[in-house]
Amino acid sequence: MQLLDGKEVSAAYKEQIKLEVDKRKAEGKTTPHLAAILIGDNPASKAYVGNKVKTCAQLGFESTLVEYDTNVSEEDLLKKIAELNKQEDVNGILVQLPLPKHIDENKVIEAIHPLKDVDGFHPSNLGKMMIGQETFIPATPYGIILMLQHYGIETSGMHCVVIGRSNIVGTPMSVLLSRNSNPGNCTVTLTHSRTKNLKELCATADIIIAAIGKPKFVTEDMVKDGAIIVDVGINRIPDATRKSGSRLVGDVDFENVKEKCDYITPVPGGVGLMTICALMKNTLRAADLV
Ligand code: GUN
Repeated sequence: MQLLDGKEVSAAYKEQIKLEVDKRKAEGKTTPHLAAILIGDNPASKAYVGNKVKTCAQLGFESTLVEYDTNVSEEDLLKKIAELNKQEDVNGILVQLPLPKHIDENKVIEAIHPLKDVDGFHPSNLGKMMIGQETFIPATPYGIILMLQHYGIETSGMHCVVIGRSNIVGTPMSVLLSRNSNPGNCTVTLTHSRTKNLKELCATADIIIAAIGKPKFVTEDMVKDGAIIVDVGINRIPDATRKSGSRLVGDVDFENVKEKCDYITPVPGGVGLMTICALMKNTLRAADLV
């Protein structure tokens, strides 16, 4: 088994990005600038946004963090997005999801200018991705593609089972892996909570992308010998042996599955780090589009 090491791979991509940013600066071009909007005090969202802002600083990007209380009105949020759309020095805008219930997620996503939508969630960008046009690709699936590319994993002709059909991960991942590209050219089965025979389907997969949000959901009996396992899950479970009383696990039962597969991403230290890398690549691209 080989570990698909998000730490190592993201460091390599980040070094490349930093070099490009330094080059831009030396040439008198603008500094890429990401604006992140965080609403409420969801600890996971706070941690994710904190990491994004920290990575901006590491790579020489500008960043702006806009924080709102949970009860911010939809109107105020939309006004802020309109302001950031107009602000010439801001290249990328992201609104951390999930949003509080009183705010319409679709309205918010559609309010972001498609050329600043570095999350790739705007319907116009998702539509372009569907038909293979160049656009911002949602960061988690894009990060997984970058990871597979880094290891030179040849996916052509493989059967890929994606578990979970979210707009952010499962659905775009299924599109990207079925495209005529490398990585890609897979035969993709997109599975979800109503799928019958999920275990049997997984057991036929050459690649499993687990993005269902259930701790240790993928067990060894669901995995074929020599499969490639990509674990998108970040779940916090109780662990009395830890000082914090909890620890992070993925959607895959790593300890048992690792014995059967050829490649596997750890949690933490896998896909999560690649997601940030992909977001930074999108932001750099957004700066280039101006
Ligand atoms: N919440 C979980 N993943 C993401 C992401 O990639 N972008 C945003 N904006 N929110 C998220």
